[in-house]
Amino acid sequence: MRNAQSGIFALGNPSHAYLEFDVLDGRNRRDLVAAISSFREPRTTMGGVNLVVGFRPELWSEVAPHDAPDGIKGFNDNLVGVEGFIMPATQHDAVLWLSGSAYDVIFDVSRRALAELKGLASIAEETSSWPYRHDRDLTGFIDGSENPTLIDAPEVALIPEGNPGTAGSVLLLQKWAHDTALWEALDDDRQEKVIGRKKLDSVELEDKPADSHVASTDQDKFGKIFRRNMPYGTVTNHGTMFVGFSADQQRLATMLESMAGLTSGVRDALTRYTRPITGAYYFVPAAECLRQPAPDVVLETATN
Ligand code: HEM
Repeated sequence: MRNAQSGIFALGNPSHAYLEFDVLDGRNRRDLVAAISSFREPRTTMGGVNLVVGFRPELWSEVAPHDAPDGIKGFNDNLVGVEGFIMPATQHDAVLWLSGSAYDVIFDVSRRALAELKGLASIAEETSSWPYRHDRDLTGFIDGSENPTLIDAPEVALIPEGNPGTAGSVLLLQKWAHDTALWEALDDDRQEKVIGRKKLDSVELEDKPADSHVASTDQDKFGKIFRRNMPYGTVTNHGTMFVGFSADQQRLATMLESMAGLTSGVRDALTRYTRPITGAYYFVPAAECLRQPAPDVVLETATN
């Protein structure tokens, strides 16, 4: 039996960094896979860091053709929805998601990772995240209510035994900027109609509008996913880092099409107040796939 990268399921960590990399011109992309696969978290029982690594699907298929899910593809083209709404494609070669108990360790370990990749890859996109009011995203709504529990999440997020890519997962990483002024101009009742749930306690509206976010991403229709979204940004420039895992890329892709209005002709109302500024798919292979003939590189923090 193979194991997933456990950081996928490591709930409750307040500090996050998402680092997306591109291999430098003239360098071999396979070397990037080997280098990132060799990264290990600092060995400590306290203040540790969870590492999750993922690769451009086409790159993983090239490196491990027998261990890549059939038909998996990068976010290679902009998704063009109705009314000129666009979800931009900003695919990169690899992602490293770090999460932990405090930002100092995330900062130190991220810097060590960057130093290890110097001369091989450049950082293309970097985002830091932190929780807002315990379990809310920056719309002020509770995020994750319809997530599977940690008992059920592996079944939703991981490719089942006996299939290429067993215990791997497809990650959609998409950064959404919020238009906070426009959002806050809505009263709670109108915001609830946009989301499709009550703001205070996340109870689903019985008569939720067809263009509500919850109706646009209905998992009974599109299939189940496991979300690890986090707020990101500064006081003046912020939003939601959408972090969605699934055993099947189609579920994520069809949810995006639905949000963009391509399924019913109606755009998800949430897209009128938030807009995606990045979008990439990564294949997150099973932990065993990260074992290398080369020695492990433990990303020690500065004081270790
Ligand atoms: C600005 C970006 C986004 C924000 C602020 C956001 C926020 C929310 C909130 C507040 C809920 C209701 C509570 C819950 O069940 O979690 C929700 C539900 C959900 N969202 Fe999002 N979301 C965003 C983007 C996305 C994207 C890009 C996807 C899919 C690719 C997605 C998929 C889902 C799903 C599957 C549900 C549960 C639907 C159901 O009830 O079955 N969300 N989201």
